[in-house]
Amino acid sequence: MKGLILSGGKGSRLYPITYTNAKQLVPVANKPVLFRVIEAIRDAGIHDIGVVVGIDDNARQIREAVGDGHQFGVAVTYIPQEAPLGLAHAVKISQEFLGDDRFVMFLGDNVIQGGISDLIRRFETSDWDSQVVLTPVDEPQHYGVAELDESGAIQKLVEKPRQPRSNLALVGIYMFSAPIFQAVNSISPSWRGELEITDAIQWLVDHGYRVQPHIHRGWWIDTGKPIDMLEANNRVLDEIEHHISGYVDRDSLVNGKVTVGKGAEIINSVIRGPAIIGEDTRIVNSYVGPFTSIYHDCVIEDSEIEHSIVLEHCRIVDIPVRIGDSLIGRNVTITRSPIKPKAHKLVLGDNSQVGIL
Ligand code: TTP
Repeated sequence: MKGLILSGGKGSRLYPITYTNAKQLVPVANKPVLFRVIEAIRDAGIHDIGVVVGIDDNARQIREAVGDGHQFGVAVTYIPQEAPLGLAHAVKISQEFLGDDRFVMFLGDNVIQGGISDLIRRFETSDWDSQVVLTPVDEPQHYGVAELDESGAIQKLVEKPRQPRSNLALVGIYMFSAPIFQAVNSISPSWRGELEITDAIQWLVDHGYRVQPHIHRGWWIDTGKPIDMLEANNRVLDEIEHHISGYVDRDSLVNGKVTVGKGAEIINSVIRGPAIIGEDTRIVNSYVGPFTSIYHDCVIEDSEIEHSIVLEHCRIVDIPVRIGDSLIGRNVTITRSPIKPKAHKLVLGDNSQVGIL
């Protein structure tokens, strides 16, 4: 089997972070979401992986970060997509790479509990034409929803139904065999101008191909919005193995599940896990509370922060009010200004969001 990861797209719901940063490279528990996806596919025994990327600067970042894949023990082939024309379009342009192999398609911004090894094994040993992953959700009207027939096979897929007839939403993991190319070449773009994967799967069902559901019972997060990134960060921080490699001085208190990276220093501070402090980051006279990931080469001094993600090379110094529920991009400085008049002085990118006490 081969793997196909979709890592193009605009990431508009994560502006301004995604103006300068590919959404799939935003770290969750200090590891980019895309790396977690590659590892999940590799751990399921698949080593030949196509990565669909755009043709913008974010694509260049992805190529730089992932390279030829050898750091993960896989071989990566990049497949450029001229514009985000839909998930089925991404399949269409990957036909040459995929050939006649069965493959798993994984959205590069999704995080799932427990890996995909069982799923892959089930599909590999079956004669199904496709397997799609579903999960029960509370508000199915916001998702692509699957209706099953009495034999348990997928009968109908409905995008954001007003009156859902099932609570089973599509998770961003799909397994296909060669007939999917006939499907993506037969469908037309939807009202939003995209070739929809739900239409392609419906085409398979309508033409007598067997599409088997797999109901996922653990958690699954599509990291489209900042709140989803924080939620994924919570879940992963709680589940990974933690270890302290950096320096913690005698005046500091580190408790719960905490990782302190190589070269990091914790001075006269309290770190309450689950939390992760990246390599060469300094935490001085500060409090880092639960569900916080501080990436590498940051400085947090005389400040308090919790339930947040801070990207690399940030400085947060002398902030009197605790920072919480925040996603902070690269190279950001937050300090107190001694310059009069006393005011919040902000330089924020387009589409930034700031909540001030
Ligand atoms: P989405 O989250 O649906 O789209 P997006 O990334 O453009 O985000 P937004 O809605 O905030 O603008 O995409 C899911 C994943 O699939 C994501 O990793 C990007 C990728 N993708 C492609 O590679 N090609 C495409 O044509 C589309 C639509 C998405």
